[in-house]
Amino acid sequence: MMAEATPPVPEPGENMGKPLPRYEARAKVTGEPLYADDLQLPNPAIALFVTSGIARGRILQIDTAAADALPGVLKIYTHLNAPRREVTKHYTEGGYVSDSAVPLGGPDIVNDGQIVAVVVAEDFATARDAAHRIAIRYEERSPSATFGSAGAATIQPDALAAKSKKAGDFAGAYAAAPVKIDAEYSTPTMHHNPIELFSTAAAWNGERLTVHEPSQFVWQLKNGVASALGIDPENVEVRDPFVGGAFGSKGMMTQRSPLIAAIARDLRRPIRNVVLRDQGFTLATYRAETRHRLQLGATRDGKLTALSHEGWEVTSRQDDYSVAGIEATTEMYACPNIASKVSLVKADRNTPGFMRSPPETPYMYALEAAMDEMAAALAMDPVEFRRINDTKVSPVTGAPYTSRSLMECYDRAAATFGWNRRKAEPMATREGDWLIGYGCATACYPTSMMAATARAILTPSGRVEIQIAAHDVGTGAYTAMQQIAARELGVDPRMVSVRMGDTAYPPGPVAGGSMTTASAGSAVKLVCDKLKQRLGGALPSGRELEQAFDRLGTRRIEEYAEWTPPGQGKEAVQALYKGQMGGGGGAEGGKPKPLMYAFGAEFAEVRIHRLTREIRVPRLTGAFAGGHIVNPRTARSQYLGGMIWGLGQALLEQTELDELRGRYINDNLAEYLVAVNADVPEVDIIMVPEVDSQVNPLGVKGIGELANVGTAAAIANAVYNATGKRIRDLPVTMDKLLDVPA
Ligand code: MOS
Repeated sequence: MMAEATPPVPEPGENMGKPLPRYEARAKVTGEPLYADDLQLPNPAIALFVTSGIARGRILQIDTAAADALPGVLKIYTHLNAPRREVTKHYTEGGYVSDSAVPLGGPDIVNDGQIVAVVVAEDFATARDAAHRIAIRYEERSPSATFGSAGAATIQPDALAAKSKKAGDFAGAYAAAPVKIDAEYSTPTMHHNPIELFSTAAAWNGERLTVHEPSQFVWQLKNGVASALGIDPENVEVRDPFVGGAFGSKGMMTQRSPLIAAIARDLRRPIRNVVLRDQGFTLATYRAETRHRLQLGATRDGKLTALSHEGWEVTSRQDDYSVAGIEATTEMYACPNIASKVSLVKADRNTPGFMRSPPETPYMYALEAAMDEMAAALAMDPVEFRRINDTKVSPVTGAPYTSRSLMECYDRAAATFGWNRRKAEPMATREGDWLIGYGCATACYPTSMMAATARAILTPSGRVEIQIAAHDVGTGAYTAMQQIAARELGVDPRMVSVRMGDTAYPPGPVAGGSMTTASAGSAVKLVCDKLKQRLGGALPSGRELEQAFDRLGTRRIEEYAEWTPPGQGKEAVQALYKGQMGGGGGAEGGKPKPLMYAFGAEFAEVRIHRLTREIRVPRLTGAFAGGHIVNPRTARSQYLGGMIWGLGQALLEQTELDELRGRYINDNLAEYLVAVNADVPEVDIIMVPEVDSQVNPLGVKGIGELANVGTAAAIANAVYNATGKRIRDLPVTMDKLLDVPA
């Protein structure tokens, strides 16, 4: 066998670290209080949100008398008595909030599920009882829910127009192309649904505020709360040692945090709030629905000559959030003539936001589905079609990729999967009543980095503590930081403890953009290096270490380091201390920036029952290259989780919208379908060794968001191979296959 799938505890390949078990494994399985809402505050009162039953209009009257009269109710807040907060801008506009609509800011309703009252009571049952006794009269107006709704304006803000990538003469080349594809695709609304619910607990001690909240960026939350309350960020501490799933939904501060903190200040009492599962659908961000038009032109021997990607995304009235994944799709393959454009459709919805691989998941789905259509039109193997159009430079700017192992990934995954057994002709492979299809697609994710700072403390016992306010959102970041420190110091990892997720520690990056290992890891490496320098270039052990402490006349050696990514300056660290994401690199010496991406190739087998059209995916195979892999065991889990999510995107996930009322219908885990064990097939993960010395000193590209890019296209392409039917609207469901001939 040439290529073996990676087992759960993989043998490290070239340029990979040790597959250590998770740093926090024992704490997690023994139920230590690691999550924000488990952290204790003294004598908290419970706050419960009451949310609007309409998507657009205004509150005419809100009657809280019956609720107020209930014993145990402390206070009910509405827009008539809301605690004052400063108006803060969306984080893309220099502010902190993920949605600039201020809850309880007035009688207007701008989206479904908007906070219209907050009940504060001694306990949850009382708060819930009171919430049901609040009577609200609305003046209801007809909302614009989504694409095609009356009143939903299509716009292209300047910032978005500037993202359009162009090369050559698309229109001319497309007109002249002998083989063409022109197809439209769509992806649905999606919600993250982390198992750990959204929550905020806030307590004041004089001027000092403590906030416990699951967050992917505690320094952002600290500064954001301070800015919304008009207080000094120095006085705000945020604690959140572990996060029980986030996927982007806990990335940027929502309006809930300053609201709860302001109520705690008003009542002079610690406040605990948990957002109920259904409320989470409108009180956090989401992945907005997207539409795409892909036009590809190629020569008969399979060379792309023209590529256009036009995208449309839904956003709110108040904010222009977009993901605009044309950056990836226009630079993926060699093609001399390129056009691209993204427009926003403004609807009466809350503002969308990050969700795992925000731009790449919808945009690469569309590109990779169109690539499969073109391969079929050319009667060419889809892997060979991608090989012919593989590139080592950007087709837009000519800048080189620092490394690109895409075809190595295809070759390894194809061999393991048995791609050579695929019949190109649709409906050609059957087993009993099942139609069998094979499909593949490219996965990619850009290497992003942010500034990061870290502290290291060494004691004479040889124990090292690393402090960095980065975050482990379930990815294995604690383990990665421990391994990076141990390797740099040349000590056993068990001698290294790691503290994260707390603003008591120096700021690390947002746990987003798959940049924690590269960014926080680089700061950890740097601070460990400084520690070694203090001790003459290496960490002595045993008695020699004790003697070194004696010589220095201390019992504790502490170092602090600030790391900035290549091309970013000191201002990136200043931005970090303000809880902002900071500036990117920019062109160096007039040369276009090199492209930094991790790549993968994903293969899927689907089986479709010829009578019921039941769709099963028995096998997925993915091969990935992401530069240096710090821990192949946790890396494998990231890839595995990514592909399983990709399966859910292909077949199950969609938030259903009542277009007349502008409201979500399936706002619960019974009806919002995600892949469960019985849906998950055999998933083979292959880690392709890759060395990239340009991306950063660690050679780490970032892999957390890589593997769920491409899965949906691979599965949809396999559905075509099985049935001859192109499903261009995700998810692929049985009803869309009813017209497949039995
Ligand atoms: Mo990830 S969507 O960048 O948290």
